[in-house]
Amino acid sequence: MHHLRTRAVHAGQRPDPTTGAIATPIAQTTAFGYGTLERGAALFAGELPGYRYSRFANPTVAALEAKLADLEGASSAVAFASGTAACSALLLALLRPGDELVFLGPLYGGTEGLLRAYSERWGIQVRDATASGLEAALTPATRMVWVETLTNPTLRVHDLAAVARTARARGITTVADNTFCTPCLVRPLELGVDLVLHSMTKYLGGHGDATGGVVAGSEALVREVRRTGLGQVGGNLAPQEAFLFLRGVKTLPLRMAAHCVGALAVARSLAAHPAVRAVHYPGLQSHPQHALAQRQWQGGFGGMVTFELASGGRSAAAAVLDRLQLFTQAVSLGDVDSLACHPASTTHSFVSAEARAAAGVTEEMIRLSVGIEHPDDLVADLEQALGVLG
Ligand SMILES: Cc1ncc(COP(=O)(O)O)c(C=O)c1O
Repeated sequence: MHHLRTRAVHAGQRPDPTTGAIATPIAQTTAFGYGTLERGAALFAGELPGYRYSRFANPTVAALEAKLADLEGASSAVAFASGTAACSALLLALLRPGDELVFLGPLYGGTEGLLRAYSERWGIQVRDATASGLEAALTPATRMVWVETLTNPTLRVHDLAAVARTARARGITTVADNTFCTPCLVRPLELGVDLVLHSMTKYLGGHGDATGGVVAGSEALVREVRRTGLGQVGGNLAPQEAFLFLRGVKTLPLRMAAHCVGALAVARSLAAHPAVRAVHYPGLQSHPQHALAQRQWQGGFGGMVTFELASGGRSAAAAVLDRLQLFTQAVSLGDVDSLACHPASTTHSFVSAEARAAAGVTEEMIRLSVGIEHPDDLVADLEQALGVLG
């Protein structure tokens, strides 16, 4: 098998058979003519391969799905209009009333909100196993275990192999949201996880210009997610967006390497700064799961760095953030441009102060998505901004 970097360029793509176009053409069409009634009937009966209607499948989207399945080591993948649509499709497709879902948090707030909403509306028990540990939270009704490969914003790492082992022994499906790590750093399916999902909006796209999601795993599970998420919910990715993701993913390994180098430099410099109380970055030896990340990940520790100022609460965080020049204040992540946010007043503003405290989100906390600019420039920008604290 070729290296990931080679597959990021070539997997799922080949020159267009009619024109020779190397970039996958954007198949901007709703329907596909099938010629004869007989052929149409065979297509609809699933006896003939081919496209019929873009909500179900589209050649540009299919090329992207094949590329991502390859990178995650999956037999199949299905793309959606957003990461949230991917999460929704997965839950609606695989859970039934009376089922239980157990998650290891903290999760992305949107996902946790979705889980809570579905649990009330569809009679699905949702349980947070972060404090109790996974084993203690499982019951005979547990059907799904949900983890993120790197948690937001405190950047904790889960032992994916252990989670998958525990769940699989009980016939429970494991889902890992790999948005923060990407297949460049960790491939959950290789560690025994059943389904991997992404908000492609982040690192996979990488340029902050498209919204999308993907679910990858076995043919059987992905078929269910596809049937529900596309056929019934209609959360399909548009072909123009698929083109942007195809282009973005080609440079994913190169970008990810640059994000990792930049983030490590930023984390080290922040850790040495007197105005900083704590730095959360899995690449630092001080991180509680540094050894685990070293064991389960390859090629670096990601592009996200979270730090806490020594004192001064929200006003100190605001003073630093408002003075940054290269980091734009925004809540997304994974872009080539560096971004910074204050989780307590943005991503985690919808949860109670107690829940924020339990998740370790403090008023002095700043989350950075380190872009691919030169690390020296990013370090200098942070130093000048921290200078405002005297
Ligand atoms: C880890 C994670 N999963 C899922 C999502 C949802 O993705 P989207 O914004 O593409 O709907 C996000 C968005 O921030 C996220 O950070």
